[in-house]
Amino acid sequence: MGKYDEVFQRSISDPEGFWGEAAEAISWYKKWDKVLDDSRKPFYRWFAGGELNTCYNCLDRHVEEGRADQTALIYDSPVTRTIQRFTYRELLDQVSMFAGVLSGLGVAKGDTVIIYMPMIPQAVIAMLACSRLGAIHSVVFGGFAPYELAIRIDDAKPKVVVSASGAIEVTRLIEYKPMLNRAIELADHKPERCIIFQRPQVKAEMTPGRDLDWEGQMAAARPADCIAVEASDPLYILYTSGTTGKPKGIVRDTGGHAVALRWSMEHIYDARPGDIYWAASDVGWVVGHSYIVYGPLLAGCTTVIYEGKSVGTPDPGAFWRVISQHKVKVLFTAPTAFRAIKKEDPDGEYLLKYDLSDFRYLFLAGERLDPDTYHWAHKLLNKPVIDHWWQTETGWPITANCMGIEPFPVKPGSSTKPVPGFDVRVLDSTGKVLGHRKEGLVVIRLPLPPGTLPTLWQADDRFLESYVKPFPGYYFTSDGGYIDEDGYVYIMGRVDDVINVAGHRLSTGEMEEIVAQHPDVAECAVFGVHDSLKGQLPLGLVVLKAGKNRDAGDIRKELVKMIRDEIGPIACFKEAAIVARLPKTRSGKILRGTMRKIADGEPYTAPSTIDDPAILGEIQEALRKLGYAKKP
Ligand code: COA
Ligand code: AMP
Repeated sequence: MGKYDEVFQRSISDPEGFWGEAAEAISWYKKWDKVLDDSRKPFYRWFAGGELNTCYNCLDRHVEEGRADQTALIYDSPVTRTIQRFTYRELLDQVSMFAGVLSGLGVAKGDTVIIYMPMIPQAVIAMLACSRLGAIHSVVFGGFAPYELAIRIDDAKPKVVVSASGAIEVTRLIEYKPMLNRAIELADHKPERCIIFQRPQVKAEMTPGRDLDWEGQMAAARPADCIAVEASDPLYILYTSGTTGKPKGIVRDTGGHAVALRWSMEHIYDARPGDIYWAASDVGWVVGHSYIVYGPLLAGCTTVIYEGKSVGTPDPGAFWRVISQHKVKVLFTAPTAFRAIKKEDPDGEYLLKYDLSDFRYLFLAGERLDPDTYHWAHKLLNKPVIDHWWQTETGWPITANCMGIEPFPVKPGSSTKPVPGFDVRVLDSTGKVLGHRKEGLVVIRLPLPPGTLPTLWQADDRFLESYVKPFPGYYFTSDGGYIDEDGYVYIMGRVDDVINVAGHRLSTGEMEEIVAQHPDVAECAVFGVHDSLKGQLPLGLVVLKAGKNRDAGDIRKELVKMIRDEIGPIACFKEAAIVARLPKTRSGKILRGTMRKIADGEPYTAPSTIDDPAILGEIQEALRKLGYAKKP
């Protein structure tokens, strides 16, 4: 038996022993009574009775153990031409002070705080300050529009919102404050205070009586100490797209999260204390939570917070410059970022300018790593290029080529094997386990390992409906895929109304709800179509109400604006066409999957339940006019 098999088998046959040992790497105020409390199945609780503080494990502990002068955080911002380094001691000082600011405003254990910030160190400081106090943060990605922020404010009911005056998107200044003001106007819940970090590039107008200036507050604050919390207390809520307009509030517990992330840094990423680890993502996504902030700091690494893109800031050599300048060992990003580099610098000429001798691994996730991008990146870098699959819900990888256990040969198109703790199976729609290479629905046997979602924020029923009820005894991932004869897992895409645009998870169901509000639209379908850069892009097909025959271009523009205003630019909704009818089953279900296949030029068969097969020809014609449905 190889090393991986040994570790994996143990994690499944003796989860309590396995994770109990892993938990020794975390510092606890009080040891757990039970590693896995399964008394309320399927609501499992890891390290029940244990008490800890995540911020203590990320910062104080390293300072006490001799890493005070090691760089904890490098802020690299090509868009503001800034590079700033914080040692562990400096980061601890800033975080303790900001925790003091929050606690001075009455934020205490169990309170919620929303963080709506660009990629600046203050975002990390705010997250860690919340965890220091046992407050629950909910970071909202800056590319979301006020309406999305308002939904999250109403659901999380924050006492305080932490934000900044704005972001710099390559060269464009984006003001955050007017968006925050609008969101608070739209929301029923009104946060008591907003703390605003004023950036020199954008000045925010403050609302008297509500808004407070970050710097002013920090200057007057007294540092706050760590508060012990229970292992099962929430560390954060992170909202992610579901199949409807109401996002799911993924809850992360404190103990399981710390244990799993600490373990993953060494065993999956081969990242050790002192290594430079860079996740080129955004703190607003789960990758940012786990691998910009918590994972690297729990492991005593140096993390990089990068305010820029893979291209255009200033050129397609941006990533190579950061890797070389900061001696990055591990880079984690989305395949889209690499496709963007490939498009602008197909021969990798920019790479030749930089010394990448410290660089060891490229990890990619967030969307399927297509074999072309894999081959291109691998040939260019001549280093391991590792696809790994996970979800906001799991918080860390479900399948990966674990570099710290036993590296396996790569099979392009596969994210390799299940990570220890994740017992992955493929089922048919009746729940029968499928054999090798049979494509079906991917599930994970319960209990999930530590660090994964214990439930949804104040929505246990929705948790059960979405993840457990479809296949009792399993967690349903909503991804389709198969497992080959060597145990390699192939994830082929979502089986629900969720799409992946540039590694960002979006709900087509939510987009349909918005499109349907257009006064001229009778019915509509939004689905994801293949895009060579962003993986997928949303496309809308609409049927107009009888008697409405306005210009198609005008309607398209109005729909694009509606989605931009309600969800945000990040939705990348740019195409909509008018059709006479939509294909449906006899029971009235719109055949989105069939339309997606037609658009992508994939073979398809009309389902036997289809109401009128002739409509598929009309759809094909409409999609051809938009430049899709090219292949037979
Ligand atoms: N605040 C405000 N607006 C934002 C934003 C933010 N934080 N992030 C993105 N946007 C806007 C962009 O400006 C753009 O707006 P536009 O339509 O007005 O041009 C829109 O949202 C789409 O952004 P993006 O998907 O980033 O597209 P892009 O064309 O600007 O950049 C890539 C293309 C490939 C460079 C970029 O998509 C990329 O780096 N992708 C990798 C994604 C990634 O790291 N995902 C993390 C998951 S692991
Ligand atoms: P998110 O919750 O934003 O991380 O998105 C999770 C979804 O992204 C998954 O359900 C998958 O559909 C997709 N995904 C993430 N990583 C991969 C990967 N390595 N391969 C295939 N799909 C992926």
